[in-house]
Amino acid sequence: MQRWPTTVRFAGKKLLFYNFIVQFACGSATTNTLYGTWSMKVLVTGGAGYIGSVTVERLIAADFSVVVLDNLSQGHAAAIHPAATFVEADLQDPDAIESVFAEHAIEAVMHFASRTLVGESMQKPFLYLGENVVCGRNLLECMLRHDVKRFVLSSTANLFDSPEKIPITENESIRPGSPYGESKRILERMLYWLEQTDGLRFAALRYFNAAGASPDRGEDHTPECHLIPLVLEVALGKRESLSIFGNDYPTPDGTCVRDYIHISDLADAHILALKALDQGSRTYNLGNGRGFSVLEVIETARKITGHAIPYEMGPRRAGDPAELVADSGRITSELGWKPQFAQLETIIESAWHWHRNHPNGYGDQA
Ligand SMILES: NC(=O)c1ccc[n+]([C@@H]2O[C@H](COP(=O)([O-])OP(=O)(O)OC[C@H]3O[C@@H](n4cnc5c(N)ncnc54)[C@H](O)[C@@H]3O)[C@@H](O)[C@H]2O)c1
Repeated sequence: MQRWPTTVRFAGKKLLFYNFIVQFACGSATTNTLYGTWSMKVLVTGGAGYIGSVTVERLIAADFSVVVLDNLSQGHAAAIHPAATFVEADLQDPDAIESVFAEHAIEAVMHFASRTLVGESMQKPFLYLGENVVCGRNLLECMLRHDVKRFVLSSTANLFDSPEKIPITENESIRPGSPYGESKRILERMLYWLEQTDGLRFAALRYFNAAGASPDRGEDHTPECHLIPLVLEVALGKRESLSIFGNDYPTPDGTCVRDYIHISDLADAHILALKALDQGSRTYNLGNGRGFSVLEVIETARKITGHAIPYEMGPRRAGDPAELVADSGRITSELGWKPQFAQLETIIESAWHWHRNHPNGYGDQA
């Protein structure tokens, strides 16, 4: 009997050491202290998608129990962590959501599932002003019926179409750049009111450009619209060249400047925000606080991949602001969050590693 505690301590130390090695291999040695020891059952909608699947990976590494709800319209079954329970369902179906809450003792929700294409939202606004909003509403209504009051929302920098000041703080005026951005604004307002009426605790996380990969999970969208995976598709020979939209912006090299945030840093921010909910609702802008131009991204990718990455310069695309860079000072000072992978090189290297090992992504798209 006396040997048990020793064995457990030994096993614990071994596990901690192993975990540290794994975290280090994934590029972060700080997550154990960030997460502390929490265990809670979290429903992750969109957990088969790009950001959701990496967040699930981090939640599980931190001992949370996870249920993923996804309709696989954009997500991939192979991206879902094997330790998560998977329910294939659509958030437009209230009965399907009800079954999840009836079956699982959910204590918190992270809501990633969404239509996400700014351009598409300009063509088909009701897919966004309708579907995105209805899905959020169905989910929130069911949560409250089951007395679940912790909610983390994937919001967006598309709330800030023409910012007055760069970097962009949470005090910037909200002017959505598209029906997509507007759908997130409506969801944020819904959260505000549900806090007043029902005591919901929420975190609205407005991320700038999510980028990079964990060793096992990366970006595989169809169609792909994000700059870094498009650049890497050229490096992999899957595309001949890249189109750049405009080199006459008021930026140092004339191309648009964006703030890239590594998905592991984003995942950390979700977990920190979730843990802080019992102290109150919160809204944070999430980025590196440093912008990189399209040409800087290409130049960095050239160095990392050794490929020339040819591009064609075209005219501006409607609706692209010159510069979007986040001021993440609020989450840093309130929760101690700091990006661990702020260097563009590190972000692109992690994405390149994943894309080279998964040249056809998860291999489930035609
Ligand atoms: N990728 C970015 O740079 C970025 C930036 C800002 C905000 N966001 C937000 O982050 C979230 C995740 O983005 P992502 O890039 O991982 O997108 P993604 O498309 O990879 O993931 C979204 C997931 O939601 C699922 N889904 C969509 N509609 C659904 C529905 N009705 N019912 C059930 N599942 C559904 C999809 O199958 C997919 O797995 C989105 O809410 C997006 O608006 C993303």
